[in-house]
Amino acid sequence: MPTISRKGLLMPESPIRKLVPFAEEAKKRGIKVIHLNIGQPDIKTPQIALDAIKNCDMDILSYSRTEGSDTYREKIAQYYAKNDIHVSAQDIIVTTGGSEALSFTMGTIADAEDEIIIPEPFYANYNGFATAAGIKVVPVVSHIETNFALPPIEEFEKLITPNTKAILICNPGNPTGYLYSREEIKKLAKIVKKHNLFLIADEVYREFTYDGKEHYSILQEEGLEENAIIVDSVSKRYSMCGARIGYLVSRNKEFIKTALKFAQARLSPPTYAQIASEAALDTPQQYFDDVKQEYVARRNVLISELKKIEGIKVAAPQGAFYCIAELPIDNSDTFAQWLLEDFNVDGETVMVAPAAGFYATEGLGTKQIRIAYVLEKQELIRAVSILKEALKVYKS
Ligand SMILES: Cc1ncc(COP(=O)(O)O)c(C=O)c1O
Repeated sequence: MPTISRKGLLMPESPIRKLVPFAEEAKKRGIKVIHLNIGQPDIKTPQIALDAIKNCDMDILSYSRTEGSDTYREKIAQYYAKNDIHVSAQDIIVTTGGSEALSFTMGTIADAEDEIIIPEPFYANYNGFATAAGIKVVPVVSHIETNFALPPIEEFEKLITPNTKAILICNPGNPTGYLYSREEIKKLAKIVKKHNLFLIADEVYREFTYDGKEHYSILQEEGLEENAIIVDSVSKRYSMCGARIGYLVSRNKEFIKTALKFAQARLSPPTYAQIASEAALDTPQQYFDDVKQEYVARRNVLISELKKIEGIKVAAPQGAFYCIAELPIDNSDTFAQWLLEDFNVDGETVMVAPAAGFYATEGLGTKQIRIAYVLEKQELIRAVSILKEALKVYKS
């Protein structure tokens, strides 16, 4: 039989999706599964974006420009200007989701065996994009006890080698919900300048910041023109995950010129989805205020309910819509599977994401789960009560 690649064998399975067959089996047995495991918001997409598609009449659904349409990129630049990030349309490449922006970034900045330092736990697909590009992920551990704050800068310095090309952060964080402060971004800026590295910030959750805290972007930081790369997306901002539109933003001309070559190979981002995403930029502020209020209410309910469980440790998320909880069990992989295979309360159970898959260091996160609070409050309360009952009977 012809053999597949070593890379293919090394490609990690999604920790979020690997339990899906067990959930499907549970559903076949008539069990209702409450999904706490996946970041698909239940929030309505702005009407203005949906209408733009409905009202669009075109004779040919053609390719767009490789870097995205001019009008769309001009409007994205205006969106950033409103957020105190001053870039031009030429600094932006529209991609097929933030996912493609991540993969173009890795391809553009690193060769096989190069290294990227990432605070862990991190968005699990970073592992996949790095593996596909032959890049080594070097984790630096952040801890639930400090709410997953930026690890001390000395920890980063210890890990820098001649092969290190970049530091990658997710701000606000998936799976941690941590929002980096201006001071933390300044510390990172200093270290990337000192060691001549790229600083990549995945800011796909930038709108979701709570408790009066404001997002501080790496592109607001002076002097990072050559170093800073933002990965962005419409998926969560406008609840448009299915549009598959994201973008890369950098003032580093060489970076954009090279990333554009990767973009040329896939011809263009989706044309229809750009029309919807361009219209979404005119979404009234009230939409975001309402969404934010809803997520804060959900987070508050979730955290206060979780804290009632004996022996649990919960982080205090200040952004995005995820939270990590450490449970009084030995192995959250086995526990999550057991919840789907062997447990229910009145015909209902919960599906959680075991957190080990968000760590690169073997053995970390084995007692932790990630919960996405993308469900209504009553459903979250019910889900936590099921989790509580489960922990009473579970024998780890
Ligand atoms: C941190 C983070 N980055 C990037 C993505 C990719 O999103 P998309 O490709 O839908 O833009 C996601 C999706 O969940 C994410 O959580």
